[in-house]
Amino acid sequence: MRLAVAIICFVLLAACDSGTEQRDAVASTRTVQRPFVPVPPGVIVKGTAAQNAALAPPGPQVTPALLVKGEDRFRAFCSPCHGLSGRGDGTVVSRGFLPPPSYHEERVRTLSPEQIVTVITQGKGRMFSYADRLLPEERWAIAHYIKKLQAESGAPIRQGAVSP
Ligand code: HEC
Repeated sequence: MRLAVAIICFVLLAACDSGTEQRDAVASTRTVQRPFVPVPPGVIVKGTAAQNAALAPPGPQVTPALLVKGEDRFRAFCSPCHGLSGRGDGTVVSRGFLPPPSYHEERVRTLSPEQIVTVITQGKGRMFSYADRLLPEERWAIAHYIKKLQAESGAPIRQGAVSP
């Protein structure tokens, strides 16, 4: 009986994968490719609560450092379409992409930082989401930087007839 158990144990151990076997050399990008696995219904992804808390208004306190970060991220991620001053005249638009609305339009001026964060997180219309590229804090930073851009543009641009 003892011998049988010992043999079974030996067979089981022998089947273990040490994980140190020689592998073929593959391009580094290929080793990190994983199939897309949808989240099963009812499952809460680890970190979701923290993510939601970071996205909840009022967001981080508006400091000069936050605005500097916002400007930096805005220039990198948003200005290609929205333009450096937010008038919807970025380089991508000059190559034929449909122009986004100017941030200085009355309707867009009234968007709150929270609403801008939502546009960054979810995308809107032809604009895709930036949720996988920008951390919640970076989204708030950009939103406040856009509010600053809007405030600095001076008097709102009026549409239609100019009355004397
Ligand atoms: C690839 C071009 C492109 C980039 C890059 C881009 N946007 Fe947009 N954005 C658009 C377009 C196009 C619209 C108009 C969407 C529509 O209504 O169909 C838009 C609309 C918006 C609006 C207005 C939403 C409204 O209520 O009308 C906001 C705010 C905005 N973008 C913020 C951002 C921010 C912040 C970034 C950077 C994180 C960004 N966008 C990057 C193309 C872009």
